[in-house]
Amino acid sequence: MKGLVLSGGAGTRLRPITHTSAKQLVPIANKPIIFYVVEQLVGAGITEIGIVISEGDTGDEITAAVGDGSKWDVHITYIPQDAPLGLAHCVLISHAFLGDDDFVMYLGDNMLQQDLRQFVERFETERSRPPTLGERDRVTPAAQILLAHVSDPRQFGVAELDADGDVVRLVEKPQQPPSDLALAGVYLFDRRINDAVRSIEPSARGELEITDAIQWLLDHDLRVVHEVLEGWWIDTGKKDPLLHCNRLVLDMLVPRTDGHVDEQSRVEGRVVIEDGAELVNSVVRGPAIIGSRTRLVDTYVGPYTSIGPDCQLIDAEVEHSVVLASSTINGVHRIQDSLLGRESEVVRSGIRPGATRLMLGDHSRVDLE
Ligand code: G1P
Repeated sequence: MKGLVLSGGAGTRLRPITHTSAKQLVPIANKPIIFYVVEQLVGAGITEIGIVISEGDTGDEITAAVGDGSKWDVHITYIPQDAPLGLAHCVLISHAFLGDDDFVMYLGDNMLQQDLRQFVERFETERSRPPTLGERDRVTPAAQILLAHVSDPRQFGVAELDADGDVVRLVEKPQQPPSDLALAGVYLFDRRINDAVRSIEPSARGELEITDAIQWLLDHDLRVVHEVLEGWWIDTGKKDPLLHCNRLVLDMLVPRTDGHVDEQSRVEGRVVIEDGAELVNSVVRGPAIIGSRTRLVDTYVGPYTSIGPDCQLIDAEVEHSVVLASSTINGVHRIQDSLLGRESEVVRSGIRPGATRLMLGDHSRVDLE
């Protein structure tokens, strides 16, 4: 079993952060999302991992961050894609890496609570069962998909099940969804998906859709099994789902203090203070993480906040937010529900006349108090 991580795409729903960085590298609890993805594959016993990257765009940054896989004792092959032509196109261009092997395809911005291992084991068990000709339900599955109940299925691929609970149809982003079961971005395939991705045509959005490729399998009477997720699943490609995911991961933090907390400071609840971080007359109320070499002075950091490394927070209050590396917040009470990119500065300078002075990148969004 191999792993194929998809880490291209423009990330338009996470602008302006994605003007300068890949969405798969945005940190959740100070760790890039794609690291969680690789760790899921490693946890399922997969050691040969291909990563599809966007050539001439965020590909170099992903390659620099993830490296050759030696961090996890696995081997990583990078597969450049020259344009975001769809998830099935990623499978098409990965053929030299995949060969005829079974593989897990994992979208590099998706986070799954449950261990991937259990899904891989189920697929392998199903596939090793001897097929009985004529009995469709016994035929070796060509694919296994993961489904999740969602409140707005129109944003996803959606599955329709028959009275026996089998998948009979899949549609990408339907206006009239046949169910509330979305396709989560984790799929298991055998070699027959290669025929499917070669046979389908681009969708209305001009992409080769993996949803259409799986539908092709169904149309050719091949078996597609599914599981409905019990734990959470989040497609982190937008600010609010990203903050939600940050909350869920912070809830599982193992508290530790590697930095320095002075006598006037207090740390309450599930909190990680990373190496070299410093708290001066400050309060951190967990779940929260304070990155390496970050300095908090006269500051309050509230629940569900991740502050990246090398930040300066002075006379600030921040809650339910993600702040990326090397940012400065000074004299601001309070920032909430926010995502700040690297080297952001939010300050109250006191300069007269009192006014809001902005220097915002394209597609920025500000909601004033
Ligand atoms: C893609 C798939 C969709 C799936 C979703 C999961 O959507 O096309 O079927 O439900 O990922 O995250 P996209 O993120 O490309 O809009």
